[in-house]
Amino acid sequence: MDYMETIRSRYSCKRYCDRQISKEQLDAILEAGRVAPTAKNTQEHRVYVVQSAEGIAKVDSVTPCRYGAPTVLVVTYDKTQAFVYPGNVYNSGAEDATIVATQMILAARAVGVDSCWVNRFNPDEVSKALDLPENEVVVMIMDLGFAADGFEPLPNHFNRKPLEETVRYI
Ligand SMILES: Cc1cc2nc3c(=O)[nH]c(=O)nc-3n(C[C@H](O)[C@H](O)[C@H](O)COP(=O)(O)O)c2cc1C
Repeated sequence: MDYMETIRSRYSCKRYCDRQISKEQLDAILEAGRVAPTAKNTQEHRVYVVQSAEGIAKVDSVTPCRYGAPTVLVVTYDKTQAFVYPGNVYNSGAEDATIVATQMILAARAVGVDSCWVNRFNPDEVSKALDLPENEVVVMIMDLGFAADGFEPLPNHFNRKPLEETVRYI
């Protein structure tokens, strides 16, 4: 699958079957995050892989948006390690973690794994439930798995603004 086909065919999967993703698929997804750029190459992101029944139950206690996915990634950044721009006004941690997550979610599509980006949670509750280090900020949760039989992309997926509405040439 070429890159444009990958990004065009990704959609948010909101109903999964029980089949677990393979180790090869998971490794490819994690590798896509590993090679992501970060400001000053600080690589302060952290990725937690949740697959155990206990971990999944903890995820379910903090978000209604797992949708049955058998694998969940939790992406955070270490706020003490993120590059802070001169003047101390801008911490690049959230950007870095978002780039990592984006590369991983597109890689998931490339290796045939369905996904959903989730931010419907209270970051502090996630940290507490998963016992994450205090200096880490939770940015997103990524559901990973395979769509349940009959699940189709929601209508929203096909609704994108034309470039004229979002791009200006200056
Ligand atoms: C930053 C972000 C946060 C999102 N949070 C949630 C969420 O908490 N729960 C959910 O079901 N979908 C969530 N989504 C999925 C969006 O609803 C979805 O991407 C959007 O409607 C477009 O549909 P598509 O991904 O199928 O193209 C999120 C997507 C993004 C980019």
